[in-house]
Amino acid sequence: MIKKLEEISAQALRDLEAASTLEALEQVRISVLGKKGTLSDVLKTLGSVPAAERPAIGAAANEWKRKIEAAIETRKASLENAVLQAQLERDRVDISLPSRLPHRGSLHPITQTTRKIIEVFSRIGFDVVTGPEVETDFLNFEAVNIPADHPARDMQDTFFMGPGVVLRTHTSAVQMRTMRNQSWPLRILAPGAVYRNDSDATHSPMFHQVEGLWVDRDVKMSDLKGTLLFFAREMFGADAKIRLRPSYFPFVEPGAEVDVSCFLCRSKISDSCRVCKGTGWLEILGAGMVHPRLFEMAGYSEAVRSGALTGYAFGMGVDRIAMLLHGIPDLRLMFQSDVRFLKQF
Ligand code: DAH
Repeated sequence: MIKKLEEISAQALRDLEAASTLEALEQVRISVLGKKGTLSDVLKTLGSVPAAERPAIGAAANEWKRKIEAAIETRKASLENAVLQAQLERDRVDISLPSRLPHRGSLHPITQTTRKIIEVFSRIGFDVVTGPEVETDFLNFEAVNIPADHPARDMQDTFFMGPGVVLRTHTSAVQMRTMRNQSWPLRILAPGAVYRNDSDATHSPMFHQVEGLWVDRDVKMSDLKGTLLFFAREMFGADAKIRLRPSYFPFVEPGAEVDVSCFLCRSKISDSCRVCKGTGWLEILGAGMVHPRLFEMAGYSEAVRSGALTGYAFGMGVDRIAMLLHGIPDLRLMFQSDVRFLKQF
């Protein structure tokens, strides 16, 4: 019987070693030590053994049982460890991988262009001022020498908010606001949104301008030209040129339209240039010497009479400059909030 116990136990130990999963190990345990297990079966026949031999067989059986149980524990621990290792390997986090960058938006091309314009002029002493978008008819028109019958006041162009109140049609209104609130000398830049009842690929009912104004003694047309040339070079490249074409704006005399040489074809006139369309020049702003009527409206008459108080003014369309710089074909793209468009800037 001892021999039988030995055989069963040796087989059990071999089976334990061969069990490759926790489930298989449990099966082996049941098949040997379970109620109907091989070891238990042998012990059930103990009654047929002579009484004198029983203690020795019982002791041997207990010894084998203890050995098998110990072997099961050892095997179990090593299988559990293997399961844990496999799990750790599977759930492994590679901490050396670069992290996902947080999503950052970007500034709208119009904001970028406005900031660039402000940056250029602030380097030569211009201060930024702002005015309201809902403006009086008086400051938007009357005070900048646009008489009541001027076509700019036509229902087609101006959004009227109520009697005597309009959405400003240009930032020139800020010139008068500032002059009526502050004394000269003045060197200001007024960026902001303006409104006109107009809409197509190059016109939007809301667009953006930057107005400039310098009022002091002895400001000359050549100062205006020098300032604008400096601006053109900073904005469009060091070899940019400008030209002034005589033009009419009610708030300046003389007045001019200002062109900058095409920054794409560098004025090497060719029909195929998509920016200047072969003209070599891009119209970017209006400018001139402040009309004496504006000084009168501002309450500067005394200074004008007693000395040589003069000034220049200019106004430019930011949206148009941004379109030229980035080759944007349709102004409406700017205001549709399409991320695919905005992402490019
Ligand atoms: N206010 C004009 C416009 O909206 C632009 C302009 C032209 C402004 C000449 C000026 C200027 O200050 O001198 O079209």
